[in-house]
Amino acid sequence: MTARGWLVPCCLAVAACNSKGRWPASMEQQAAVQPLAEARKAPVGSIPLGGVEILEDRDDVTDLKSPTPLDAVAAARGAKTYALHCVPCHGIDARGDGPVSAKFPQAPNLRHYFICGRTDGFLYGTLTAGGRAMPTMREGLTSRDRWDLVAHIRSLQKEGCTGNGAGATPEGGTP
Ligand code: HEC
Repeated sequence: MTARGWLVPCCLAVAACNSKGRWPASMEQQAAVQPLAEARKAPVGSIPLGGVEILEDRDDVTDLKSPTPLDAVAAARGAKTYALHCVPCHGIDARGDGPVSAKFPQAPNLRHYFICGRTDGFLYGTLTAGGRAMPTMREGLTSRDRWDLVAHIRSLQKEGCTGNGAGATPEGGTP
């Protein structure tokens, strides 16, 4: 096409751009989702990495399932967290004989039938919202840390549950 041949399409294009009587002066003036205009949904299976989970009562999450498998890898991570955060009350072997239990409402044996029968969601809820005497363990622990702890408790319980059978209360504890 010759230089004159380009002239007509160019003029038409310029006229089209300016059809609303103004030049597009900024990138905001285009068909696009504007910043903060709408929140995208998190992909399925996402785990919150920051922020605070709002949970007042462990009974509200009894049916909650872990977004990641409660497998041996998770249990191994949970064992490390357990040693740092839970041993003072629940004891090294999770039998409710930690040193704080002598001066505080005694923490239960986590291998008790009563706790073996709890749902994963209830255990997670206890760690997140706290129990009747147990303080919330949410501070400093991510959602995944708490699910790892549930995996650790379940792996201990696989070694065998103790106590007086279903319906009994945790030994020495205040369920
Ligand atoms: C300050 C002492 C204390 C600490 C620290 C503590 N617990 Fe407890 N925990 C208790 C007491 C007391 C109970 C029994 C009464 C209740 O549910 O509040 C309990 C109950 C529980 C239960 C049983 C809930 C039920 O009724 O089925 C689980 C599971 C549990 N704790 C796990 C943990 C884990 C895991 C940690 C560490 C992240 C932890 N606890 C840290 C004192 C403690």
